[in-house]
Amino acid sequence: MQQVRTIDIDINGEDYVRRPLDMEAAAREAGPVAWTESNGGHWMVSRHAAVIEGLRDADTYSTEKFLDENGQLAGGIMIPTVPFYRYLPNESDPPAWNGFRKSIAGHLSPGSVERLQPVIDQYTAEVIDEMIELGEADFVMQVGSPVTAKVTLHLLGLPTEDWKFYAKPIHLLFADGASAGPGVAAIQERLSSTITERRAAPQRGMIDDLIATELDYGPMSDEDVKDLVFDVMVGGFDTVAGLMAGSLQWLQDKPDLKTRLLEDDEFLQTATEEFLRYISPAVGLSRTATTDYPIADQQMHKGDRMYFMYRSANWDPAEFDEPETMRLDRRPNRHVAFGAGIHRCVGSNLARSIFQTVLRQFLTRVTDYEVVDFEQYKMTNNNAGFARMIMRYTPGTRIDSSAR
Ligand code: HEM
Repeated sequence: MQQVRTIDIDINGEDYVRRPLDMEAAAREAGPVAWTESNGGHWMVSRHAAVIEGLRDADTYSTEKFLDENGQLAGGIMIPTVPFYRYLPNESDPPAWNGFRKSIAGHLSPGSVERLQPVIDQYTAEVIDEMIELGEADFVMQVGSPVTAKVTLHLLGLPTEDWKFYAKPIHLLFADGASAGPGVAAIQERLSSTITERRAAPQRGMIDDLIATELDYGPMSDEDVKDLVFDVMVGGFDTVAGLMAGSLQWLQDKPDLKTRLLEDDEFLQTATEEFLRYISPAVGLSRTATTDYPIADQQMHKGDRMYFMYRSANWDPAEFDEPETMRLDRRPNRHVAFGAGIHRCVGSNLARSIFQTVLRQFLTRVTDYEVVDFEQYKMTNNNAGFARMIMRYTPGTRIDSSAR
C-alpha cells in the first residue's frame, strides 16, 4: 500500500469553476484516487477504472445521510452535505434502496418510455412552436427545460402548465449554485399538499402509483413519495437541457454533421453517447466509506468522504483515445455519464429519448441558429450546464402542434 497521495483542489472553489477540466486532468495525473484537505477533507476518485470500481461497490461506499459525532447531518451525495432534503432513491442504501428504486424504475423502463414517445413528440413540437417565430430565444429555458419538465410532469401525473413553478427553482439550484431557496421550499410544500390530496382522491399518474406502493415494511410514506418525485425532477430537468444545449452549441457550425444526424439513425445513436461522454451533464457526486477498504491503491477509512468524478472518468485518456476530441461515431464508448453500479441513472432511457427527439425536431425546424451569448452554471462540481444560451435564427412558422 502506498502512502496517502494528496492534491490541492477545492471542488467548491473559484478555480474549479473557471478551469474544471484542467483541475480534473491534474487529479487524474496525481493518480486514480487522491486526498484533498478542502471542504473538510475528502478523496477525489478521478480515473475511469477507479470510478467504476467504487460506484459498483455499494456495500462499502454509502450514499445515506447520517448524524456525525457532533450531531450534525453528514454524508449524502453532495460535499458539503445538503441538509434541506433527501434525494431518493439516490441517498439510500440497500435494502431500503431496492424498494425505492423498484417503485420508479417501471415508469422509466424502455417499454414505458417507448409508450411515452407520442407525448415527447407533442411537447417538443409545442415548445418549438412557442419560440420559432421570435428569431431569438434562450434555448435552455425556452426549449430544453420546458420539454423535459412537461414530459416529466405528464409522466408524474402533475399539471404540465405548472412547469415553470418546478423548473425555474431547480434550474437556479444549478445555475446560481445555491443549495436551496424559496422556490425549492415552495416545491417541497406543493408536493406535500398534492400528495395529501392525491392520497385522499387518487388519479392516474406515477405519483399515485408511488403513494399506493407497499414497501417491505409497510406503505410508502408521504415524505418518501415527495423525495422520490423531487429526485426525478432534479435528476432530469437540467441534465437533459444541458446536454441538448451543449450539443447544439457544438453543432452550430457543422452543417454536414447536422444533416447526417437527421438522416442516419445509427449515427444519431453513437453521437448521443459521445455527447453524453464529452459534455457529462453530471460532473461528480459523493459517497461515504462504511468500512476500512482500499480503492485503486489507496486505503479508505470508515467515515471518509469520497467524490466520484464522472466527467473526469469520461475524459480519462487511459480509457478514451483523444478524449478531448468529440468523435460522433466513437465506438466503443464506455462512458459513465449515467454513473455505474446500483445508482446508475434510472432515467437514462427517458433522457436519451427526449434528447434525440428535440435534436431531430430542432435541427429540422431551426436550420440556421447561432449561439450569440451563453453563461455556464456557477456551481460546477455536480452538474455541467448553462444558466442561459441565447440563440438567434431566421424566424420560422408554427405547425400548430396542439392540433396534431
Ligand atoms: C442526460 C441526462 C441525465 C444524466 C447525465 C444523468 C446522470 C445521472 C447519474 C450520473 C446518476 C448516478 C448518481 C450517483 O451515482 O449517485 C443518476 C441517477 C439518477 N437519475 Fe439521472 N441523469 C439524467 C437524466 C435523468 C432523468 C431524465 C431522470 C428522471 C426522469 C433521472 C433521474 C435519476 C434518478 C432518480 C437517479 C437516482 C437513481 C438511484 O439512486 O437508484 N435522471 N443520473
